[in-house]
Amino acid sequence: MIGIFDSGVGGLTVAKEVMSQLPGYRLIYFGDTARYPYGNKSPKTVIKYAIEDTDFLLSHGAKVIIVGCNTASALAIDELKNRYPGVPIFGVVTPAVKQAASISKNKKVGVIGTRGTVNSSIYTQLINQLNPEIKVYQQACPLLVPLVEENWLKRPETKMIVRRYLYNLKLKGIDTLILGCTHYPLLKEVISAKIGKRVQLVDSAVEVVKEVKKLVKTKADLSLGQSGANHFYVSDLNPQTQEIAKRWLGNEIKLEEVSGIGE
Ligand code: DGL
Repeated sequence: MIGIFDSGVGGLTVAKEVMSQLPGYRLIYFGDTARYPYGNKSPKTVIKYAIEDTDFLLSHGAKVIIVGCNTASALAIDELKNRYPGVPIFGVVTPAVKQAASISKNKKVGVIGTRGTVNSSIYTQLINQLNPEIKVYQQACPLLVPLVEENWLKRPETKMIVRRYLYNLKLKGIDTLILGCTHYPLLKEVISAKIGKRVQLVDSAVEVVKEVKKLVKTKADLSLGQSGANHFYVSDLNPQTQEIAKRWLGNEIKLEEVSGIGE
């Protein structure tokens, strides 16, 4: 089984991508809605939560872990890889970095994400490890996650806030923009309209699943493709969360509440 965790429902964009790129592979999802959001928390706390989320997925049969949260990928991926050396663990940051570095022609890349992700500067570091000539411009966009969760995807207020956040990146003349938060693919249309159609958007969900696909196709022994239902667990279930999940993944998705994570 492929395990995915996120701070909440944002990682469902990654789950959706797994279902589309790897149909037939079972997945188990954990959204830590009780402790959401991670984006404004300290690295120490995010690392602790990421370990507990991973433990949950592994104890429920996951054989591969996707950290479907940019903040946790930015702050906790090294810790997770050290802690579980035998488990393939994929973060959403590195695949997006590789893609952005390879497609940017003018060597000016923008990154948008939560405060936690932007303050970690992980995207800048990794892009510059690949190519020190690339200039990376970051922008934290803390208002976008709640707007997405409210389904304000095309409201004038959202368009105005997106334009404001992207203003400096636009002035810098970036030709590539990394959507460094799992919620942002839902705002692709508005983001593209505001940054300019010529700027290429990199969706970290799409890129990470491409990497996972390479692994699962070469390692039949990971027993990922067992039959059975996908499971979507959350640490706190409320009607709004269920509603968002249905909106993003379709009416048949049913979230299940689990308690005791981290206790
Ligand atoms: N899932 C988080 C991320 O991708 C956004 C929501 C949060 O702040 O926890 O960074």
